[in-house]
Amino acid sequence: MKNKKRNILVTSALPYANGSIHMGHLIEYIQTDIWVRYQKLQGHNCHYVCAADAHGTPIMIKAREEDITPEKLVADIAAKQHQDLANFNVEFDNFYTTHSDENKKLVEEIYTTLQEKNHIYTKDIDQAFDTKENMFLPDRFIQGTCPKCAAKEQYGDACESCGATYLPNELIDPISNLSNSKPIWKKSEHFFFKLSNFENELKEWIKTSGLHKNITNKLAEWFEMGLKDWDISRDDPYFGFKIPGTESKYFYVWLDAPIGYLASFLNLCHKKDGLDFNSYFKKDSNYELYHFIGKDIVYFHTLFWPAVLEGANIRKPTSVFAHGFLTINGKKMSKSRGTFINAKTYLDNLDPNFIRYYYASKLGPSMEDIDLNMDDFVARVNSDLVGKLINIASRCSGFINKNFDGKLASQLDDTDLFDIFSKSSQSIANHYEVREYSKAMKQIMQLADKANRYIEEKKPWVMIKNDEQAKDVQMVCTQGLNLFRLLMIYLSPVLPKIADEVKIFFGENNWQWTDAENPILGKNITKYKALLLRAEKKKVDNMMAASNETTKDTLTKSDSDQITIDDFLKIDLRVALIRDAKKVEGADKLLELTLDLGESDRKVFAGIKSAYDSKDLIGRQVVVAANLAPRKMRFGVSEGMVLAAGPGGSDIFLLSVDAGAKPGMKIK
Ligand code: 2FM
Ligand code: ZN
Repeated sequence: MKNKKRNILVTSALPYANGSIHMGHLIEYIQTDIWVRYQKLQGHNCHYVCAADAHGTPIMIKAREEDITPEKLVADIAAKQHQDLANFNVEFDNFYTTHSDENKKLVEEIYTTLQEKNHIYTKDIDQAFDTKENMFLPDRFIQGTCPKCAAKEQYGDACESCGATYLPNELIDPISNLSNSKPIWKKSEHFFFKLSNFENELKEWIKTSGLHKNITNKLAEWFEMGLKDWDISRDDPYFGFKIPGTESKYFYVWLDAPIGYLASFLNLCHKKDGLDFNSYFKKDSNYELYHFIGKDIVYFHTLFWPAVLEGANIRKPTSVFAHGFLTINGKKMSKSRGTFINAKTYLDNLDPNFIRYYYASKLGPSMEDIDLNMDDFVARVNSDLVGKLINIASRCSGFINKNFDGKLASQLDDTDLFDIFSKSSQSIANHYEVREYSKAMKQIMQLADKANRYIEEKKPWVMIKNDEQAKDVQMVCTQGLNLFRLLMIYLSPVLPKIADEVKIFFGENNWQWTDAENPILGKNITKYKALLLRAEKKKVDNMMAASNETTKDTLTKSDSDQITIDDFLKIDLRVALIRDAKKVEGADKLLELTLDLGESDRKVFAGIKSAYDSKDLIGRQVVVAANLAPRKMRFGVSEGMVLAAGPGGSDIFLLSVDAGAKPGMKIK
């Protein structure tokens, strides 16, 4: 039976462009990718878009630290993230960036409409300000003692120790993370979106949007507490889009990020014929729009986002699907425990098909957390994928290839059994549609058990030795291979790369879901190649060890990082005279110094531009670590390091040596 063709647009949350993709992210991308592949297999017109979430203070600061522009940082990280996801066979129709012309235009249009309709107002607010860095501080950039439980080093918005939430000015002894100085409180005008204007429309939308009850329960609590208006502006310096009509105010990253979904799709519409942006986003569109997200960003997607769309006269999402977090061996993923596994570290050791299947076998439509238990992972993928699924093909294909010239029989041995498999299609499809993947995997594996039992009972390896029965082996193995083919059609949203090889094996180009209605008979198959190797515990251990290593590098120094006096004495400290100092084109922090070390001149790049004017440096004598191996930097090779102290910004103090010392003199 042919279904009506649906037009569907699907998104996953946009990853911040300041870090790597990790196994937690992958729950969502794999969950979405499976759903999109399933819809495409059903013949629907389904598109999957995503983008790098480019804006905000953390990205601006990271770019400063790396001495590159935020645009470059975002482009570099987005390319890596996109590649990592592609390596897990997550296939977007478009992966774009929120720092795009399309997004800027849409954000400005939406904002202007909201403003015209009186959904925006301004108000002065008190905010933490770092006087050294000369900037307002987001809550996450302030740390201090929790006002509720006195735990130290807690962020400005919430305490990780007791779970309390508070305002940053309630923190005891607050300190700016950027300069280690005490912030002051300063007034600034901010722009607010009147979320409270939309309570009725939101309640109506919730009734029709089929949200999971986990979400509607949360929403009921939020309505009960009262909807608070939303601060959508941030002060300069900020990496984002400027608010039209202002000198130094920017849109908060969370305003432009979801609009980035639309911008990514608009960009796709520009690249692909037959896609009309307006048909998807006009107010009365009956095209479908779904957002897959994590449970931490439900508030943004089920309150702010539909309200902004409503206010801007744009259609709202058909639904929003939220998943839970990842735990590793039952515990929160954590750098200090060495269980923070990056996508790349996984791929260095293990096959992406394993995790796609493992997540599918655990995923349902709720916000429950998913546990990646390493022993269970190895056992599950080996037992289900290798032991049950692939085993069917490897047991049957050899006989067809060796004894029957690679040709399948022209009829099945057991059509009733084939029908059981074929008729399961509807129920498996329903499971995929409502994101009950674990139920779909369970049903598919029960069918795999049936197929194996059939082969077990027929024993083609015995039949082939018996003159009378040998000819029937072709039919038995044709039966086995056809059952395998159906299972692979059902699993192709989860294991697309293996499915591609199985298509080649059967000489097929493409599969639709309805291809599971009929068997393949009388055709030639190609030679069977191993489709998947077993997961090895040793590789899992390697991955965990490697995760431990990479995260150790990013943690604070421990005692084992101490050096001895002998290590210290290896550093050859010398007096150097600064002969020349100049700015480095394209670098925010660096100065290029030409140093006289007595016998030779050296070129050294020093990150001191924020504290010194180049012309004031010429003629000063400083201390240089002279035996540092030359370091290749983006702007040239640095042949040493100039010693300085201080927290950064304008507070960097070069170690100076008085005029009595001579260039090249060793410092003891
Ligand atoms: O929480 C996050 O990682 C955000 N970068 C998600 C943004 S989703 C969307 F709204 F753009
Ligand atoms: Zn606390």
